[in-house]
Amino acid sequence: MRIAVIGSGYVGLVSGACLSDFGHDVTCIDKDERKIEALRRGEMPIYEPGLDSIVAGNVKMGRLAFSTELGPAVEVADVVFIAVGTPSRRGDGHADLSYVYAAARELAQSLRGFTVVATKSTVPVGTGDEIDRIIRETNPAADVAVVSNPEFLREGNAIDDFRRPDRIVVGIADERARQVMTEVYRPLYLNQAPLVFTTRRTSELIKYAGNAFLAMKITFMNEIADLCEEAGANVQDVARGIGLDQRIGSKFLHAGPGYGGSCFPKDTLALIKSAQDLGKPLRLVETTVAVNDTRKRAMARKVIAACGGDVRGRKISILGLTFKPNTDDMRESPALTIIQALQDAGARVAAYDPEGMEQARSLLENVTFGSDPYDAAEGAEALVIVTEWNAFRAMDFQRLKSIMATPLLVDLRNIYRKEEIRPHGFAYVSVGRPAEDYLSPLHIARDAAQA
Ligand code: UDX
Repeated sequence: MRIAVIGSGYVGLVSGACLSDFGHDVTCIDKDERKIEALRRGEMPIYEPGLDSIVAGNVKMGRLAFSTELGPAVEVADVVFIAVGTPSRRGDGHADLSYVYAAARELAQSLRGFTVVATKSTVPVGTGDEIDRIIRETNPAADVAVVSNPEFLREGNAIDDFRRPDRIVVGIADERARQVMTEVYRPLYLNQAPLVFTTRRTSELIKYAGNAFLAMKITFMNEIADLCEEAGANVQDVARGIGLDQRIGSKFLHAGPGYGGSCFPKDTLALIKSAQDLGKPLRLVETTVAVNDTRKRAMARKVIAACGGDVRGRKISILGLTFKPNTDDMRESPALTIIQALQDAGARVAAYDPEGMEQARSLLENVTFGSDPYDAAEGAEALVIVTEWNAFRAMDFQRLKSIMATPLLVDLRNIYRKEEIRPHGFAYVSVGRPAEDYLSPLHIARDAAQA
């Protein structure tokens, strides 16, 4: 099949590359000339494990090309994917659909023969109807079927998620699109990945409902973690205990500093707005957003408490800046709020991240960046793990102890256990573990420092 992908951002580029890997003839389009030139040179605009080799391999096979021009690729395409951004609109939290509608208007002029236009961008329910209307208004002769085909990729895991999806959701309003979309995903379909056909509006809602449910699941566990700390229970054991119930499921039950990223925060807000507009407010989702927002600052207070209640003039080291590991994405990262709150409380902040430092430099002021975890930890009164990169899972605590001012580890992702950390003379504070874990970390740290 011939496929054009409009928008070579995260979703567009990964989808385009993987679809070419299925054997389709794909052109990825973007208005950003520098991005397209870089892609032609084999340079990836994002950090995503495995993406560069898939791109290189398929470019070499002649199945994947990049262009700033939409017309020629759309003219010959069987399927045109819209994969442009839908950021939160400033002020009201609604999804900003201007890029989606602009793409629809532009592609409409180049449609030749029957073409499926599939929306991969995350868009509010009803957007497909408007895309359909815009295309027909711009080009009344167009023979088009507009479908919704939401993407469920996780950053850092996107290639694998594309190749082994739990399901593929396609919302159609024209039966002819069913066969075309089945053909697009043929290799997955043959591997028994469920292909779920629904109406277009249902498909649009599935994407938002899925993300909101996951955000709610994480936030629920975060609140249970707070309760565990007071009740003397262990949140990881609670997660395991409830997760084995198949009605609940074991995934997305990791307590932490709150969810971030390019999807959950924006999509929950957009869903809330759509629901309010339709007169059916989603109170659970509204509360999820509020609880998650509060949590990020609460994590800074947790660090300050572990430091004895006052961090003025003291150095705090942050490990992990991106919203999760294996990405360089800083969007809505809990680290941004936590660092700001620590600075507001008078702390001097040093930080290290394996991939996110370039982005972090442009977002964070008055932060010293270390060349590795040890460099960042030099002279610090606390080392705070905010993102669970593998590089932080096996650190040399003897070395850290010898260079830090106070041996205190605040582990906001629960990647260690106190039994591993305490023998090194470190005080250890984590999330949702029994109270005696952190009753008097400062005390323990001082004792350890004197020992
Ligand atoms: C998410 C959805 O998973 C994906 O299906 C959708 O297409 C896009 O949004 P992504 O934003 O890449 O993907 O990251 P994800 O792995 O879902 O994590 C989101 C946030 O939740 C991260 O900040 C992560 O640290 C946090 N999280 C996740 C937790 O705090 N606990 C968990 O158990 C899982």
